Formats: sequence, structure tokens, C-alpha cells
Amino acid sequence: MRIGMLTGGGDCPGLNAVIRAVVRKGILHYGDEFIGFMQGWRGVLDDVTMPLTLETTSGILQRGGTILKSSRTNVKKIPGGFEQALKVIQDEKLDALIALGGDDTQSISLELSKRGIKVVGVPKTIDNDLNGTDVCFGFDTAVTIATEAVDRLHSTTEAHSRVQVVEVMGRDAGWIAVTAGVAGGADVILAPEKPIDIDEVVRLVKARWESGKKFAIVVVAEGAKLPHVEGQLTVGDKLDSFGHARLSGIGQALAEEIEKRTGYETRSVNLGHTQRGGVPTAYDRVLAQRYGLHAIDMVHQQKWGRIAVLKGTDITDITIKEAIATNRRLDQRFFDVIAGLESKV
Ligand code: F6P
Repeated sequence: MRIGMLTGGGDCPGLNAVIRAVVRKGILHYGDEFIGFMQGWRGVLDDVTMPLTLETTSGILQRGGTILKSSRTNVKKIPGGFEQALKVIQDEKLDALIALGGDDTQSISLELSKRGIKVVGVPKTIDNDLNGTDVCFGFDTAVTIATEAVDRLHSTTEAHSRVQVVEVMGRDAGWIAVTAGVAGGADVILAPEKPIDIDEVVRLVKARWESGKKFAIVVVAEGAKLPHVEGQLTVGDKLDSFGHARLSGIGQALAEEIEKRTGYETRSVNLGHTQRGGVPTAYDRVLAQRYGLHAIDMVHQQKWGRIAVLKGTDITDITIKEAIATNRRLDQRFFDVIAGLESKV
């Protein structure tokens, strides 16, 4: 088969590992040939491609980013976009398309699938919020980076007897905040799924001081909301082509509020895109390759309009429609873990 592949949306560590696995199994087991569209759906619209061969995908397993580059191109917003995409896919004589991306990218896969294109998806997002899959590749790497940051911040925060607020990514889901917060032993962990109670934050920080540990670490998700501020904190008011604001700033706003209410010197750090950079963890490399192998098998089993997912320890697949129907959020079990570790006095 002649197969196209693309990576859309925010990049994440492990994309290259998926690409390599798809190409290796496709060529070595099925005799396929591949082209890669550059910059996500932008490359499909403009027909900008690179050859994907055993040679061009060699040595990329451990590399972060994506050799195919990425963009947040919303075909729905471009007049004649779907007609153009269909024409390019036809001109390129593709038998199938494999799209690596989160809910935005897969919403385009779904539309193309409805228009008869043979698409399969692979779930990608550090946010870990795609419905129907237990873990997206890239998440473990982001959590590992955020945890290391929390670990490192302990010594400098303790040296200065400060409160240190650490803002992490995750958009409207708190997976990175809760996982890195629990792994790093943060004293306060705040996620978008639960309204922030400032009095409780202040109580927990003061309890740290009263216990003799005169420093505290607070991990907050970028999408969490402060009770005295309307909506989420953003950089500017521009939205991306899928209608998302650039979330940022809650860490600093929270730090100011904590300092005002406790009198303790407070600093904030926003880990930002650091969480998406660099080499994928071993876990993500294995998961990414398992997803890639399943995706190429899905193509040969003609499982169109479906996306590879992890359920427990098994890789299986569900419809793309189901995967993007809602975002997967933290539930009470995770807040119970946080509460179980918090001071009650
Ligand atoms: O969806 C992944 C993500 O990293 C979010 O956690 C974050 O809000 C957003 O992308 C940042 O997007 P950009 O790379 O466009 O600034």
C-alpha cells in the first residue's frame, strides 16, 4: 500500500518513535511505501512531503520533536480546505493516511473519514486527555520533566524559606499537575477539575511552616481557575485556529495571592514548553512504538476511522468519533490520593 503520515497539533516526545515503527513494520512486513506530509494538515493542503523510508527514519527513535514538523492547521476553517485535501490525497495516489495527533488533529481525520478517506489515528498529547485511552505517549516524558523540576526546586526553595509555585501544562486537564505533584511530593496540588479554595491553599502552606518545614512547593495546572479571577489566565486574547486560548499566568497570580495572605516570600516558575522538549522516556518510546505497530496493522485490517488506544496493558482501537467526543479528566480517585497525603491540622 502507499500510505501518507502526518503529525499535527503541539509536538510531543515519542512522535518520531511512532513514525519509525510504522515505517519499519510497513516496509519490512507488508511491503508498503510511505510519504510524510510536512507540518500536519498544512502539508496535506500544500502537498509538501518527504519520503519516509528505512533510511530517512533511521536514528530517530530517541529524538524529541517530529521529523515531519507540526502545525495547528484547522482544515475546517480554510475555505475549500477539505476539497483541496481530498485532491492532494488522490493526486498522491494514497491508499491510506495515518494521522498522529490529539483531539484537534483527529477532528480533521474524522471529517476526512466521513468523506471517504481511509484514515487511522494515533493518540498524541502530553495532556493525556484523549477520551478512551489510558495513556497517550509523551505524557510520561512531560511528567518526568516536571517531576525533576519539582525535585530541583526543593533545595533552592528550602534554602530561602519560600513558597515556590510551579505552573505546568495540561490545558483543561490536571493529569500532569497531579502526577508530577504527587511524584515530586508537592505540598499543594491544584488541577482544573476542582475549583481552587484559596483559604485551603493558605492553610496547607501555613501547616508546612508550623510543622517546622519552613518552605512549601505548590504545583498548579495552567488551566486551573482562581476564584477571584473570571475564567482561565491567558497570554493575550488571541485564539488558535481550533479556538484555544494560550493558557499561562496562573502560577504568578497564585504566588502573589499566597504571599499577600501568608506573608511568606513566594516565587513562581512556569515550566512551559520545556515539558514537551527533548528525548522521550523509555516508557514513551515503548508505548509510541506499540501504537505505531498497531496503527500499521489497523491499516492492513482496514480499520478506517479508528484510533489506536491503550486499555490497561493492551493496545486496541476505538472509533475516532468516540476518542474526540469528550476530554478525559481527572476523577475523584486522584483527588483522594492528594487528600490522603495532605496535612489535616
Ligand atoms: O496540548 C498540548 C499543549 O502543550 C498544552 O498543554 C498547552 O496548553 C498547549 O499545548 C500549548 O500550545 P502551543 O505549543 O501552541 O503554545
